Amino acid sequence: MKIAVLPGDGIGTEIVAEAIKVLKVLDLPFEMETALVGGAAYEAHGHPLPESTLKLAQASDAVLFGAVGDWKYDTLDRPLRPEQAILGLRKNMGLFANFRPAICYPQLVDASSLKPELVAGLDILIIRELTGDIYFGQPRGRRVATDGHFPGAEEAFDTMRYSRPEIERIAHVAFQAAMKRDKRVTSVDKANVLETFQFWKDIVTEIGLQYPEVTLDHMYVDNAAMQLVRAPKRFDVVVTGNMFGDILSDAAAMLTGSIGMLPSASLNSKNQGLYEPSHGSAPDIAGKGIANPLATILSAAMMLRFSLNQVAAADRIEAAVSKVLDSGLRTTDIWSEGTSRVGTVEMGDAVVAALAK
Ligand code: IPM
Ligand code: MG
Repeated sequence: MKIAVLPGDGIGTEIVAEAIKVLKVLDLPFEMETALVGGAAYEAHGHPLPESTLKLAQASDAVLFGAVGDWKYDTLDRPLRPEQAILGLRKNMGLFANFRPAICYPQLVDASSLKPELVAGLDILIIRELTGDIYFGQPRGRRVATDGHFPGAEEAFDTMRYSRPEIERIAHVAFQAAMKRDKRVTSVDKANVLETFQFWKDIVTEIGLQYPEVTLDHMYVDNAAMQLVRAPKRFDVVVTGNMFGDILSDAAAMLTGSIGMLPSASLNSKNQGLYEPSHGSAPDIAGKGIANPLATILSAAMMLRFSLNQVAAADRIEAAVSKVLDSGLRTTDIWSEGTSRVGTVEMGDAVVAALAK
């Protein structure tokens, strides 16, 4: 089993180091190879996704990814910005299905910004389409050499598009996931305004007919944003496009107490996957040793489950995380009165210790 390790920028290196530590104590036959990505790769090789990094990722069973980005790259031409690395990996590896579970750990109910009764027991799965939509529309930037903005121009544009096969395959993923859960899918769109999302809604409805046991409902994205903070437990599986999924998954993350807790998996049709925390590179806290490594550690668990067929090991990691939370250890982002504050490394060590028990 080969894992490509791409820590990236900001807190990426700190949190990935903790996940590696956890993977190593499992004593499974992994081969891990690390490469630069994002701003770190730009500094060393002049490109956020060097050919060698992409090749390594493509040749691996799974990619463990940290985070990319830093404000200091905001003035670079768009193709050279760190974010292009993750977008390029998603596109080049065909990682179209993004799983972003939002689970509220009982121990963290008080860390949520919502009332405990609204989030206790929360378990929703956001499935975000990841290789289409306005993120990859044409003719993005056709009128200029490299990017979508025109020096001195009066307008800029991006094009929203989805093809039938792109919608069909993500719809299947969502219905199949729902079959293993509470058998409910909410498809989020903006069909009242956008043609792309009327098309989306029609096709999801069509695919839904093949899953008679699953209850499908449709919701406009603005309403979905409201329902997520009003009554989040009404959702089971939420399926949506790339852009809406980006936004809604951040909102859903906060329900659970902290975005620092949320793992994600991005899969292609060969079950190759990229695993990363749902949060970003947080340059404001990078290097301070206070970032929460749990989202990355839980992403490593998802990697074991989905791409490496090591379900028992995945369960062990998740149980260890739960034990650590039971013991009252908290990084700053999930800290509340009466718990003990720890740093990134101590949190990783605690998970390792819990695994050994
Ligand atoms: C995410 C991030 C990325 C996205 C950025 C870093 C390109 O926000 O994974 O949610 O917009 O998809
Ligand atoms: Mg995002």
